[in-house]
Amino acid sequence: MSKEYTFDKDDLKKIEEIKSRYPEVTPAVMPVLWLAQDKFGHVEPAVQKLVADTLGLPQAHVQGVASFYTQYYKKEKGKFVLDVCTSFSCQICGGYEILDHLENKLGIKAGETTEDGMFSIQSVECLGACGYAPMLQVTNDKYVNNLTTEKVDSLIENLKQGKMPEFESIPMPQHETES
Ligand code: FES
Repeated sequence: MSKEYTFDKDDLKKIEEIKSRYPEVTPAVMPVLWLAQDKFGHVEPAVQKLVADTLGLPQAHVQGVASFYTQYYKKEKGKFVLDVCTSFSCQICGGYEILDHLENKLGIKAGETTEDGMFSIQSVECLGACGYAPMLQVTNDKYVNNLTTEKVDSLIENLKQGKMPEFESIPMPQHETES
C-alpha cells in the first residue's frame, strides 16, 4: 500500500506565499517540490501527486519537472546523496574513475543506496564547477572538488562520522596572477 502524504497548515501557508510571488501557478512547482522534498526527504510519485493536487496542476506537469532534475529525489535516498559529475570536463579529468571507486568502496551502483541507508550515489550532469573537475556534490549542498580516490576515501570516513565537508574556496586562475 502506498504511503499517504499531506501538507500541514504551516506548509500550506508557505505554499500560498510561494504562489503569491508569481503571476501564475506553474512557476511555483519547483519551490513547492523543494519544500516537499525538505519535508518528506524525497518526491516519489505520491508526493508529486500531492504537489500537483495542492497547486491544482496536472500530475504529468509536476512529474515532468521532478524527473528533469537529479536534485529532486524520485525515490527514498540515503542520508548522504553523492552526486558524481560525469559530464565532459569531469569525464576527461577522471569522473568515471571516481564513480567506479565510489561504487566499489560502497558496494552499490549509481542510482542505488547502501543497505544501512547511509549513502546513495547518482551520476549527474554538469554542476557548473568544471574548472575544479572531477567533482561531486553532497546531498544538494557542499561541492567536493579536484577529487582523487584518497579524497573520496576521506570524505566517506568523515561522512560516516557525521562530518559534512567544509566549503572549499578555490582561487580563480585570474586571481593567481594578481599580487
Ligand atoms: S563537467 Fe563536471 S562540473 Fe561541469
